[in-house]
Amino acid sequence: KELSFKQRLLDANKEAARYYYYQMMNDPKKKAITYLEKRGIDEINRKKFGLGYANFFRDDTYKYLRSKGFTDQELFEAGLTAKDKTKQESYYDRFFDRLMFPIFDVHNRVIGFGGRVLGDNNPKYLNTGETKLFDKSRNLYGMNIARMARNKKLIIVEGYMDVIALHQAGFTTAVASLGTAFTTGHASLIRRYAEEVVIAYDTDDAGINATLRAIPILKKAGISVRVLSVEGAKDPDEYIEKFGAKGFADLIERAEPSFMYEIRQLEKTHNLKDPEGRTNFDYALAKKILTLENEIEIENYLDAVVDKYNIKRSAMESLLGKIGKNIG
Ligand code: UTP
Ligand code: MN
Ligand code: MN
Ligand code: MN
Ligand code: MN
Repeated sequence: KELSFKQRLLDANKEAARYYYYQMMNDPKKKAITYLEKRGIDEINRKKFGLGYANFFRDDTYKYLRSKGFTDQELFEAGLTAKDKTKQESYYDRFFDRLMFPIFDVHNRVIGFGGRVLGDNNPKYLNTGETKLFDKSRNLYGMNIARMARNKKLIIVEGYMDVIALHQAGFTTAVASLGTAFTTGHASLIRRYAEEVVIAYDTDDAGINATLRAIPILKKAGISVRVLSVEGAKDPDEYIEKFGAKGFADLIERAEPSFMYEIRQLEKTHNLKDPEGRTNFDYALAKKILTLENEIEIENYLDAVVDKYNIKRSAMESLLGKIGKNIG
């Protein structure tokens, strides 16, 4: 019974996605299409990602789906409607006047939606909340397409538009964690399809911190991690717009191993010109090196690190020995 209820929710979502597409194509003002054109998304990708528009009427999607035989409960539990608090059992569209991004699972089923405002209102994106279908911590936007690619190096980005811009530029392994919280659920999903990832989050502090949190989660799942920084832009979408697909391909080429990225971030929080700051940094560095898996890794990164920061190798080795013993 539970299974068939889930199927009803999937059917409702699919029907909603179709109706949002219909609304986009039949909007006399062409608001969503104009917006997508302005952002450089072409018709092929509009279709590939099933983009649509929820118009500004606050109940027409609700009424349409009711006319298709879905119940109030089904629509509410699919996350397509919200309850009117002032009136009993009165529902309205959760999404209105937004560009709609259906969220697909790996089997190409619509499990939720993201909706972007077409202007500068808040919230910028409204997403389906937790439902029986949609668990944000176990799904990655774009994975339904990325898993088909022959090249299995995934590019992990933050947002809907990053995924679509990258796919359009030929990087069909881009997936988004939709916001910044990367989870062990995401890592195990990735592990089913890929052994290597490149993190390409936004360049702001939130993006940097999210990268630092994602690295150990991915490494623990046995995934090899590199990091690239879209310097000169705020995110991959803007980077492609400014520097093109070739520019982004170069960034992937130059992406650094996660360990070197972590150390570069460590460097930022210490003043290397001051003896005390320098000492603290060397200690932190040694501790970090000791978290590496095996002796070969330790040897290789030790080489890289003493070289990069002009540390005497013998001094770093004895520090490692000292701290290593304390750790046991
Ligand atoms: P960003 O603020 O970086 O947006 O949020 P963006 O993806 O670059 O969007 P554009 O380019 O302005 O259109 C990254 C992601 O975080 C989630 C969305 O998944 C978004 O794509 N987010 C952001 C929300 O869920 N709600 C918000 O209000 C903002
Ligand atoms: Mn509507
Ligand atoms: Mn951001
Ligand atoms: Mn963006
Ligand atoms: Mn962004």
